[in-house]
Amino acid sequence: MERLKKEFLPLVEENLTKYIDSHVEFILKVGRYILDAGGKRIRPLLTLGFAKAVGKEDITDVVPLSVALEYLHTASLLHDDVVDGAETRRGKPSANRVFGNETTVLTGDYMYATALYIFSTYGNIEMIKVVSDAVKKMAEGQLLELKKIADFDMTEQEYFQIIDGKTAVLFGACGYVGANSVVGDTEKSHLAYDYGIKIGRAFQIVDDILDYTSTSDKLGKPVCNDIKEGKITYPLIVIREKLSPEEREFFKQLVKKINPTDEEIQKARDIVLSKGGHKLAFEKAKEYVRKAINNLEQFPDNIYCRELKTLANYIVEREV
Ligand code: IPE
Ligand code: IPE
Ligand code: MG
Ligand code: MG
Ligand code: MG
Repeated sequence: MERLKKEFLPLVEENLTKYIDSHVEFILKVGRYILDAGGKRIRPLLTLGFAKAVGKEDITDVVPLSVALEYLHTASLLHDDVVDGAETRRGKPSANRVFGNETTVLTGDYMYATALYIFSTYGNIEMIKVVSDAVKKMAEGQLLELKKIADFDMTEQEYFQIIDGKTAVLFGACGYVGANSVVGDTEKSHLAYDYGIKIGRAFQIVDDILDYTSTSDKLGKPVCNDIKEGKITYPLIVIREKLSPEEREFFKQLVKKINPTDEEIQKARDIVLSKGGHKLAFEKAKEYVRKAINNLEQFPDNIYCRELKTLANYIVEREV
């Protein structure tokens, strides 16, 4: 992935605030606050990587599209931190903490709209379809997740419906846009979409693992926040069958609590880890990465395609 980073990261960073150009000063302030806080910029790298992998020479017009996809991601983070009541993001106090919920939600809306506007200028109608479909599904995924809060018996299928919506479809759209910029709405673009869905699933599973295993210092955002919010994620789903009746009852009660204690959260974490929930979830994430890499077989074996392989592997190797 180093090559992708070296070649495209400066370009992405350079253009990142360019399109946040509202005459409303406050929008600029909030938008820049979160964009300047950093982030891995995986979505733009994926977009540009696919464009190059299918043979794009001049990526001038793909850069704004890749930035727009990062805006969609950023908007979803702004909204997500309001929904999750998060206090930190990218190592800083989260926008909702600094500017309040109302301002944060409205700035998120502005970023969603700006992204779609960029697509109307630099994209094509096929991209607009795929990207607006992704935005719809992101909202559906987050809403379904809300609805499933405290439902300890939520199914694995429902979990995947949630993560496909809130996370994977955007990765899919990134792959699609990159490939479509060269080959149009062809099988290759659909394979690129599907690659994105698969690494997106792996990405969210790993995010859910890190919520159990990492620290807030490392991640720059809260940990153990999912269970605290009553959200049942994959590391817990995979060990549900292994719980004793008492443990099961403990979790059933815990996910319903509005304000669980630190001790209760710690206990939940200990149980999930002692039963290997993180390891089993990790196996699932690796399976999706393998499937994603399989899709790349259909692409030319060039340096960028190999970079997309390392990007897929990075998803499960990452610590942040
Ligand atoms: C966090 O995404 C939200 C999820 C989809 C899990 P990232 O981990 O890509 O966040 P940044 O952009 O690097 O901060
Ligand atoms: C990802 O879910 C939500 C988005 C796609 C924005 P999380 O709620 O787990 O994301 P983090 O952990 O706060 O980044
Ligand atoms: Mg969150
Ligand atoms: Mg969330
Ligand atoms: Mg998370």
